Amino acid sequence: MIRMALPKGRNLDVAMAAFRAAGLPLEAPASPSRSLLTRIPGFGVELLSLKDWDLPLYVGRGIADCGIVGSDVLGEVDGDLLVPLRLRDGGCRLSLIGRGRESVPPPGGQARLATKYPNLARRYVASRAWGAEIVELSGSIELAPLLELAELALDIVQTGRTLAENGLVEIERVEEITPCFVVNRASYQRHRRLLNDWIARLEAAEVAT
Ligand code: PRP
Repeated sequence: MIRMALPKGRNLDVAMAAFRAAGLPLEAPASPSRSLLTRIPGFGVELLSLKDWDLPLYVGRGIADCGIVGSDVLGEVDGDLLVPLRLRDGGCRLSLIGRGRESVPPPGGQARLATKYPNLARRYVASRAWGAEIVELSGSIELAPLLELAELALDIVQTGRTLAENGLVEIERVEEITPCFVVNRASYQRHRRLLNDWIARLEAAEVAT
């Protein structure tokens, strides 16, 4: 039996579409199912439904053999996972956002930077000529520059709709983000044939590279 961890967030639909296109029997239970653990009869596959942030831990510890998670989460949390594929769809970017370009402090200046990615934010700020106090939040990051909890935010931009609807601007694209297929190292040895077959099918269907 192989266990795959699926994210509850924005990457779930992208993953399902990619698996369908590749002809893989990895269908998550249709919403509004609350089932967290689903066996796919006849295929020896079990699906776990997890919050994106918990997924690297489950795969890293081998509780799940593989999974789909965004490169933003992978960049933020510790872990030693194999990333054999990135999905073509579902891309977005990690960007510096604010009310305007003037929110960026001058060289030597200081700002408050709101984010749910404190490690990525610290790395980014280390490469700038200005400094920042990192204000760690867990969601609705755009509210911070809007209500002056912080001058700047580092957050995901996909369609740009949230920014537009809140009168904010994308000041700088910091990193391209993609949903990744991740595999536990020991699981890759144990399930190499099956995983290589899945990888080959996803590549052949041109939904992953
Ligand atoms: C993300 C991100 C933005 C939004 C951007 O939030 O934090 O708020 O999506 O997408 P857009 O450019 O298409 O509008 P998410 O939905 O993941 O939830 P969160 O607010 O809890 O972080």
